[in-house]
Amino acid sequence: MLPEEVAAIILADSVRLRTSLRDVAIRFFSRNPELGYMKPIVRVLSLGVARNYILLDHVLTSLGYGPPSHSVKWMTARVLVFEALSGKLKPSRARKLAPKIGIDTDKLLELRGANPREFVKGLGGVDRLSVLYSFPRWIIEELLSAGIENVAQLLQSLNRDPTRWLRVSPWISVASLATRLARYGVVIEPDKDLYDVAMIVKGASKAPHTREYQEGLFVLQDKASALVGYVAKPQGRVGIDPTAGAAIKATHLAWLGARYVVAGDVKAKRLNEARHTLRRLRLGHLVDLVVGDARSPYISRIGTAIIDPPCSDIGRLQYEPEVKMWLSRGDIKFFRRLQYRMLRSILEAAPRGATIVYSVCTLTYSETIWVIRRVIRELMEAELSEPEPVIGERPKALPKTQRMLPHVHRTQGFFIAKLVKL
Ligand SMILES: C[S@@+](CC[C@H](N)C(=O)[O-])C[C@H]1O[C@@H](n2cnc3c(N)ncnc32)[C@H](O)[C@@H]1O
Repeated sequence: MLPEEVAAIILADSVRLRTSLRDVAIRFFSRNPELGYMKPIVRVLSLGVARNYILLDHVLTSLGYGPPSHSVKWMTARVLVFEALSGKLKPSRARKLAPKIGIDTDKLLELRGANPREFVKGLGGVDRLSVLYSFPRWIIEELLSAGIENVAQLLQSLNRDPTRWLRVSPWISVASLATRLARYGVVIEPDKDLYDVAMIVKGASKAPHTREYQEGLFVLQDKASALVGYVAKPQGRVGIDPTAGAAIKATHLAWLGARYVVAGDVKAKRLNEARHTLRRLRLGHLVDLVVGDARSPYISRIGTAIIDPPCSDIGRLQYEPEVKMWLSRGDIKFFRRLQYRMLRSILEAAPRGATIVYSVCTLTYSETIWVIRRVIRELMEAELSEPEPVIGERPKALPKTQRMLPHVHRTQGFFIAKLVKL
């Protein structure tokens, strides 16, 4: 089997199972260990196709092929066109694979090194952005209605590799951690806004394999996600995170000085990850884990709460671009309803004066402004409060909230609102 074929199988399975390329690849290579040497090239090909799939489809249809699908055969065609446009397609590979999937080898080879902008000539507005950056039209419309300026730059940066960040434990200074990590070739720089956050400038993949990581001296966490803990201001209060997942944000509440933290999740499996986090960070005495549904809150002694519900993950496309191949408008409707219900339930259960921080790693209008406006309109006892520290951009439609943008802040795309129970 050739790397192009392996990438096509992994891509097709990822869409069919709605599972990350990473997880599908891990399973594929554990079943086929003899192909392990292909991992780096398969990674480049599958990420490249996921990031550019609409453009690749546009090229293929302009050559007379189609209709596009997510079959292994069509994925192979996408992989070959991606390689051709990157100028890296070997003629021997093209001759071997193109006939198998019914594509003319010469036409394919002619694409080598072509400028993608050539293929969007004649397209304008949202259609042009959709093809050039390979985002479904409806996602672009959602971003535009959220009032994001420079959507083209945002889309472009969502197609790049992410900047990596870490959060430093209170038991060590950023400077000392930097010195210790440098021995492994991991280079970090303190962040200018958040005192316990650092940017990983070099060696990010080595960071989780260091002794300092095992000793709980830092957590891998995006800067935008770490900002949530600051906005929650948990010092001396009871904190709750009922959608805690691996307890990354919940442990931040503890590190920032919460008196006690409850971390819940509806999935026991996710709480196993949380258990590992607590063990590594030695926070078992401060954080309790609860299996529960955030739509029926099980604790009312809330000082500060984080609602960080499931979302479309559009702000995390730098990590998992494959998501845009299966996400639909229907998913967004599902997410916004779920997000609204979780936020409303916690606000109803919370005592007067409690603060609730709503955060999502997405930027769509539906999952940000729509959810907050609706909850405020329908629940008279909640109002927006300044989400300080404000280091993100304030959306014009809802200026008392903030969002972080990959092309501006070098973080995930992220939205944060803070509500107070009246
Ligand atoms: C975005 S993740 C949370 C990440 C987490 N806050 C962190 O920083 O690591 C959303 C979590 O919500 C959980 N979830 C989904 N539906 C839920 C529900 N009805 N009640 C509680 N948790 C739920 C998912 O299992 C997932 O772990």
